[in-house]
Amino acid sequence: MIEVNTTPFDGQKPGTSGLRKKVSVFQQPNYLENFVQSIFDSVPELRGGTLIVGGDGRFYNDVAIQIILRIASANGVAQTIVGQNGLFSTPAVSNLIRLNEAAGGIVLSASHNPGGPEGDFGIKFNGDNGGPAPESVTDAIFERTRHIDQYKIVKESDINLSDIGETHLGEMTVKIIDPVADYLTMMEDIFDFDAIKNLLGGKQICFDAMHAVTGPYATAIFCERLGLPEGSVINGTPQPDFGGGHPDPNPVYAKELFDTMFSENAPFFGAASDGDGDRNIVLGPNIYISPSDSIAVLAANATDVPGYENGIPGVARSMPTSRAVDIVAKDLGIEHFETPTGWKFFGNLLDAGRIALCGEESAGASSDHIREKDGLWAILMWLNILASRHQSVGDVISDHWLTYGRHYYSRHDYEGVEKAKADAVMLGLSEKLESLVGKTFKEETVSKADNFSYHDPVDGSVSHNQGLRVEFESGSRFVIRLSGTGTVGATLRLYLEKYEPKDGDLKQDVQTALRPIAEIAEEIAKIKSTVNRDEPSLIS
Ligand code: G6P
Ligand code: ZN
Repeated sequence: MIEVNTTPFDGQKPGTSGLRKKVSVFQQPNYLENFVQSIFDSVPELRGGTLIVGGDGRFYNDVAIQIILRIASANGVAQTIVGQNGLFSTPAVSNLIRLNEAAGGIVLSASHNPGGPEGDFGIKFNGDNGGPAPESVTDAIFERTRHIDQYKIVKESDINLSDIGETHLGEMTVKIIDPVADYLTMMEDIFDFDAIKNLLGGKQICFDAMHAVTGPYATAIFCERLGLPEGSVINGTPQPDFGGGHPDPNPVYAKELFDTMFSENAPFFGAASDGDGDRNIVLGPNIYISPSDSIAVLAANATDVPGYENGIPGVARSMPTSRAVDIVAKDLGIEHFETPTGWKFFGNLLDAGRIALCGEESAGASSDHIREKDGLWAILMWLNILASRHQSVGDVISDHWLTYGRHYYSRHDYEGVEKAKADAVMLGLSEKLESLVGKTFKEETVSKADNFSYHDPVDGSVSHNQGLRVEFESGSRFVIRLSGTGTVGATLRLYLEKYEPKDGDLKQDVQTALRPIAEIAEEIAKIKSTVNRDEPSLIS
């Protein structure tokens, strides 16, 4: 073991999902080393403990893993468990931390951001409950990065990550395992695979792995376990640059899947996940399920799935997510919670057993089986529900709206805008929030307008400034917040929502239904005129 002198780098503050920067930033000598040593300095339980390490296979994944293993060994980690070829999806890491009672895990990913030498890289630490480290830990890591003057590392040669088995690096045991096996076992415990197999017999599905980490997981589940033909999984081989695309499952970047699902001979079911496997989208022939609706459907039908057959104690959604799931919770007579954006806010509620299902508008959904969002889990939930209801995606969502009404919902993003202008929009709106209440805009009267603060009911902590929301007496609302995950300039997100009761018009075009709210939002918040854009850069 040697100790290497180093000096701090600016800006190693983990964001919503760990430290995310351009690959070239991570390639600076000592940049990754400083951050990793700061993790070990801030989480003493890692000494003598087990650490799970893996990533989504993006460029620099392999190099970073070798560095992390050497530093882990020098810092006295007893055992590391690494995915073959350095691959683990985020949900798989969360599961393995819990399964092996590990002290934590390191996930190498920048989620849905592009990869390759010019793309993004990221590193995230998860704690012993399997979830993203809470702010107290990420703050401690950041504080350490600001003063670090030395890191410890062993001078052993690289480990061969392609061979399954056990080896040693200095004193530390390194186990290279099949990244899929334990995840598949967990899925078998939750779902009725025979029912899904019966449902899909003779039917076509299309799962788009977007050249990212879910390829091997989906191939094992859909092709090997459920016996579907090979073409059921597209873009199934992980590539360091994700085939040049963004592994972000939305209509723009998953165009191949959307084109397939909106074609004449569309398969029975379509789905995709993102770079590290924690996000999901679900489609039927000629229909895309909005993530907010998806969470509501999963909650309403959870008891169809063996893992939840006894019911769920409660549900939670992030604040900008539509309130479709709240109506389901009220109907089921269970608790529902509204948390800030970011998966970590669900952790306490899950650990306390207050909720068993949660999700976000940003295509994340999961349950208490792990402490991360889980793309393939959500997709299997849908398939299990379709199997038990003997219905198509389109029929399930139509029935859902007929039962609970429909929350028309859309997100308008203004990406890469000047930070000062984005701040001006936020400040301008927050200053006038109070004066809006009671005012009427185009027949919509403001019933409530505030800057969302979250009071964690489990540990009593309070998180302020979590987004600006303006609600109307009709039940419609808009929300504006600044993205916490972008790497270029600032991204403003405008979330639009309009509730249509079950006996109303449930078949409108989404953007048409939301146009009046979008116009009111512009009249009040003046995004377009402030950031000098005619249109949002992405509508989802
Ligand atoms: C990551 C987190 C999610 C969160 C999303 C929000 O994916 O894991 O929990 O919803 O970022 O991103 P934003 O860019 O809106 O801050
Ligand atoms: Zn992700």
